Amino acid sequence: MTDSANTRFVPPSPPQTGTFKAPEPAAPKAAPPPAKAENTSVQTPPESSTLNSKKSSRDPAIASSLNRVTIGNKAPHADDIRIIGGKNYDVRQPVPIKYPAVREHFLSARNNFWTPHEIAMGDDKIQWNTGDLTEEEIWMFKCNISYLTASDNLVPDNLDNAILAQITASEMRQYMRWQIAEESNHIESYFFILESFGLDEKGQGQIFSLYQDVPELVNKLNWNLDFTNNVVNCEHPQGSREANRALMEDLISYYVFEYLFFPLGFSQVFALARQGKLRNTAQQYQYIWRDENLHAINGRWMILQIIRENPELWDASMQVRTREIINEAVKLETAFGSACMPNGGIPGLSVKSYTQYAQLMGDNLLKTLGLNPLFNIKEHPMSWLSEYEMKQEVNFFEGRVRDYRVGSSLDWD
Ligand SMILES: [Fe+2]
Ligand SMILES: [Fe+2]
Repeated sequence: MTDSANTRFVPPSPPQTGTFKAPEPAAPKAAPPPAKAENTSVQTPPESSTLNSKKSSRDPAIASSLNRVTIGNKAPHADDIRIIGGKNYDVRQPVPIKYPAVREHFLSARNNFWTPHEIAMGDDKIQWNTGDLTEEEIWMFKCNISYLTASDNLVPDNLDNAILAQITASEMRQYMRWQIAEESNHIESYFFILESFGLDEKGQGQIFSLYQDVPELVNKLNWNLDFTNNVVNCEHPQGSREANRALMEDLISYYVFEYLFFPLGFSQVFALARQGKLRNTAQQYQYIWRDENLHAINGRWMILQIIRENPELWDASMQVRTREIINEAVKLETAFGSACMPNGGIPGLSVKSYTQYAQLMGDNLLKTLGLNPLFNIKEHPMSWLSEYEMKQEVNFFEGRVRDYRVGSSLDWD
């Protein structure tokens, strides 16, 4: 093992009782930690926490699913179609396909469909119940699955409440609806994992509720929620610079979820699997990661296409703001890592490596948007993660490279 955690790891203190306690006291459930992130650069939540409490005014010329169908409404012309802000056509028309790449994403995603219940969980159940995991590993895993489950709620909530209504390209709307179903499938996976361990509803609930108890989890989730609410509660007209700016920031935060927060979270469980622990769970996470990869690919494609179509949105101030957002995200991820591993790491994964991985992904994200890196991490601190990355199923444009059948065993190459 080359990871520095192997030399730095300090075994946790023996528990005082048979019940595992958090290494650091969590805020009591009755008085949850404040929703506002301590990070001073994180935005202040809006006064109203109710999504959809206020709608931005709509321009009736902008294509919208709320626009009434009218007799004689012409089919869209490809030149008129835009990812956002397309005008004077009915958004329900599936043709012409302006963006074949997005349809390709949809078909690839559909080819990747999988179900959590088809992955055997028996080995993990034994390990979970026979003390194979250290208390530090258990704490990390509990924080991990709680955060990821809440995240897989926030992503579709963001798509549903803030983003989809702004999208004026039929194929992108179709893709996002499929994505929402996939995020739901991920929640089922997390639920199935804990259920497979033999935990009853109370036991599952104690784990899932950690996202409401641990400040670092609360802060990270609220950071994303604030971007969603900024779009939903924007008082400027749809299509205005201010409204598009709020949307662009939200899309960057959405891209952070898919490209940075999720892979970082998965890496914690892959580190366990690498030590021979919770390998069934890691297999579930591998399938989820493959989905999130495609979400990130589509998210990046969408942001770049919006910039192409609306270059004024990608001005100097937005580029500066994007770098700020990524910096905030990396800080939040680092704090999350420390909360999950309060003693500096577990065997095979140190907080130091985890932090560098977050910085590396932050830099890579910036580069994919044509921006300069912030951290200049030269080498992947956890290059072994590639062993856990699954290939995308090839879409129909290229033909399938292997026979993937829903209901078959879920082995991969
Ligand atoms: Fe997901
Ligand atoms: Fe996703």
